[in-house]
Amino acid sequence: MTARFITLEGIEGVGKSTNLEFVRGLINEAGHQVQVTREPGGTAMAERLRDIVLHHDDESVPALAELLIMFAGRCLHLENLIRPVLESGTWVLCDRFTDATYAYQGEGRGQRLERIETLEAWVQDGLQPDLTLLLDADPEVGLARAGARGEKDRFEREQVEFFARVRSAYLERASRYPDRMVVIDAGRSLEEVQSSITIHMQKLL
Ligand code: TMP
Repeated sequence: MTARFITLEGIEGVGKSTNLEFVRGLINEAGHQVQVTREPGGTAMAERLRDIVLHHDDESVPALAELLIMFAGRCLHLENLIRPVLESGTWVLCDRFTDATYAYQGEGRGQRLERIETLEAWVQDGLQPDLTLLLDADPEVGLARAGARGEKDRFEREQVEFFARVRSAYLERASRYPDRMVVIDAGRSLEEVQSSITIHMQKLL
């Protein structure tokens, strides 16, 4: 059986970290090896780009530069980690991927769709996740949870309207790609969220 590529998406504070560990456990229990990784980041150099894009206060970052940095990091991540790991038969579970770019740089920052589509085609050359779990919750709830975590990065400092746009872009993508993306209502109890995740994961496992 070929190794699968799974991504987890959602706005800040929807419980991605907790559920990432839960999904890792499901994959392991089914007897597969899994590499957990994240974007922006995932390799040493891509993590340096993450740091630039998330904590950069000494110079303004034009939205186009932000978009290009996301895809530069993704290129490093794909070529140096994701593709080789999948080819070795190990599953890849990634905290965010290109749906985040459509949501944050596209709808959030107003970058044109065609630009993102072009970069996606260049960098991914057809590679897409096998399954994307979209954790969906009201931005007010998510931001309150994320805000309790202390120092905020460049995205976490955005206002609720920004995250409302990001959320609707995610939902729009989920309705456009129903075979790949599933929406999990993350406003429910953790137990209910994880039972939905289990149902969707079982189809793949
Ligand atoms: P994280 O806190 O979930 O690790 O994500 C860091 C931030 O990066 C988060 O606010 C979303 C943002 N992001 C983008 O804007 N575009 C992208 O393509 C990715 C992968 C993340």
